[in-house]
Amino acid sequence: MKFLSTTMIAAAAVALLATGFATQGQAQDAAASVKERSALMKGMGGAAGRINKADDAKATVEDAKLIQANLQKLGGLFPAGSMTPESRAKPEIWSMNDDFKAKLTAAQTHAASAVASSEKGDLDGTKGHVKNVVAACNVCHDVYRGPAKQ
Ligand code: HEC
Repeated sequence: MKFLSTTMIAAAAVALLATGFATQGQAQDAAASVKERSALMKGMGGAAGRINKADDAKATVEDAKLIQANLQKLGGLFPAGSMTPESRAKPEIWSMNDDFKAKLTAAQTHAASAVASSEKGDLDGTKGHVKNVVAACNVCHDVYRGPAKQ
């Protein structure tokens, strides 16, 4: 009996430790995801602004591709429940995840069109598609991004 309870205590201790490590690992994942998606989001804001002011289609190709690439990466940067005190992510991202993903896809579709136009040298077309991208950014923010933190 004494042996049994010692084993049980040891097993419980191991289980507790394992849970502790798992939780810590998830917290680190969340913090890293929040940091990376914030950088990618800001990068897209800068790129969209530069495209708006461009007067040459050639000068927009790189930024259109940056927006496209960042939107692509964002798909993997919202692991379930990844909220930190700094994050503006709302829990609806995961409770309405199909809709969240659909809104991301919509932005990606417009971004692909912007890249195609920029590569064709069509400045007005590029700007038009980027306008649609930015509208898609805002549609997602309206539902899934909370107020700015300070
Ligand atoms: C599918 C949803 C979605 C799309 C599309 C989207 N965003 Fe976001 N964005 C978010 C969420 C959610 C946050 C908050 C993330 C966090 O704080 O964890 C955010 C945060 C931001 C931030 C604040 C970053 C910071 O840390 O201060 C900026 C800027 C931003 N987005 C710009 C953009 C731009 C520009 C686009 C389009 C090119 C875009 N976003 C597309 C969901 C989206």
